[in-house]
Amino acid sequence: MYSVGVFGATGQVGGVIRSILVERAFPISQIRFFASSRSAGTKIEFNGEDVLVEDAHYADFSGLDVSIFSAGGSASKVLAPRVAESGSYVIDNSPAWRMDSGVPLVVPEVNGYLLAETTSKIIANPNCTTMVATVPLKTLHDLYGLKRIIASTYQAVSGAGRLGVDELQRQLSTRSDELSALTFSGQAVEFPPHHVFPGTISGNVIPHAGSFVDHDTTEEIKFVQESRKILDLDDLGVFVTCVRVPVFTGHSISIVAEFDETPDHDEAIEALGVTPGVRYDPVPTPLQCAGRDEVFVGRVRIDPSAPRSLALFVVGDNLRKGAALNAVQIAEELATLGRLS
Ligand SMILES: NC(=O)c1ccc[n+]([C@@H]2O[C@H](COP(=O)([O-])OP(=O)(O)OC[C@H]3O[C@@H](n4cnc5c(N)ncnc54)[C@H](OP(=O)(O)O)[C@@H]3O)[C@@H](O)[C@H]2O)c1
Repeated sequence: MYSVGVFGATGQVGGVIRSILVERAFPISQIRFFASSRSAGTKIEFNGEDVLVEDAHYADFSGLDVSIFSAGGSASKVLAPRVAESGSYVIDNSPAWRMDSGVPLVVPEVNGYLLAETTSKIIANPNCTTMVATVPLKTLHDLYGLKRIIASTYQAVSGAGRLGVDELQRQLSTRSDELSALTFSGQAVEFPPHHVFPGTISGNVIPHAGSFVDHDTTEEIKFVQESRKILDLDDLGVFVTCVRVPVFTGHSISIVAEFDETPDHDEAIEALGVTPGVRYDPVPTPLQCAGRDEVFVGRVRIDPSAPRSLALFVVGDNLRKGAALNAVQIAEELATLGRLS
C-alpha cells in the first residue's frame, strides 16, 4: 500500500487520475491532493471520503511514495525536484522534463523497460498526441523498420485544459438560427470572443496548436522530438501539422508511415489487433474512444505509389491514455518493480 500524491488534482487530468486510481484499485494507504492557492482548502471526494486540497507550494511532502503531476510545466519545474528529493517518485504529465536526457519518457507498452533501468526519481509522461501515435507505431516498427512519418493531427479542445473546454462550450451556446446561417451561407456569425485558441474554434478547424517557433508550433516540435525519444530512433524522419478541432475529447492523427521493408496490409492489421493497448476498428472516431483506455486504429491502407508506406488513422482519449491512464500504468509498473517501497 502506497502514499499517493495527485498534483493538479482539481484539473481535468487530475480528475481522471483520481477516477482511474479507484477503477484500477491502485493500492493506496493515503491519498493527498495538491493544487494552486486558488483551490487550496477545498475538499474533493475520493473513495467515499472528503480529502482536503493542499497548496502545492507550501505543503510538506514527506511520506509520499509516488506523486502524479498534472499541474502545468512551470509548477512542475519548481515542485517536481522538491517532491523527488523528499523521497517520492514523480510521474509528470507536463512538458517540463520530457526532453531532459536524464529523465525517461515512458509509454509502458512501448518502452516500459526503461523503468527498471532508470535512476531518475522523475519519470515523464509524453505529450498526449505523441503518446497515442507511438503505441501502434512501435508494433509496425518491430515488423517493418520505421523510417519516416508524415502526420496531421485533429486535437480536441480538452487538450488545452479546462479553459479550452469552456471556450468551445461558450461558443456552442451561440443561437441556433445564427449557426444555421453559417451552415447554409457561410456568412459571418458573432461567436463569443476567443481567449484560449487563436481563433473561433466552434464550427472551425485551426492549424495552430501551441505557439509558433519560426514556422512550426510547439505542439509540432513536441511530436517530432518525443516520438524519436520514445521509439529510440534518433534519425526518424517526422513531419507533422497539428490542428485544433471542435471536439471535446479524443485526439486523432492521420499518419503515413514509411518503412525499410514493404509492409503487408493484412499482416499489419492482424499485428495491430493483438497489440496490448490497441483496438483495431475500421473507422475509429473520437466520440467512440472518449472514456476508453485503448488507442483505436483503423483506415489502414497501402499507398500504391509508395509501396513501403502504410497509412493509418489513430484515435486516443487525450485525458486517459494521453495523460492519466499512462501515468497510473507507470505507477503500477514502479510498484511491480518494487521501486515504491
Ligand atoms: N489536457 C490534456 O489532454 C493533457 C494531456 C497530457 C498532458 N497534459 C498536461 O497536464 C497538465 C494539466 O492539464 P489539464 O488539462 O488537467 O489542465 P487544467 O484542467 O487547467 O488543470 C490544471 C491543474 O493544475 C493546477 N495548477 C495550475 N497552476 C498551478 C500551480 N502553480 N501550482 C500547483 N497547481 C497548479 C490547477 O489547480 P487550481 O484548481 O488551483 O487552478 C489544476 O488542478 C498540463 O501540464 C498539461 O500539459 C494535459
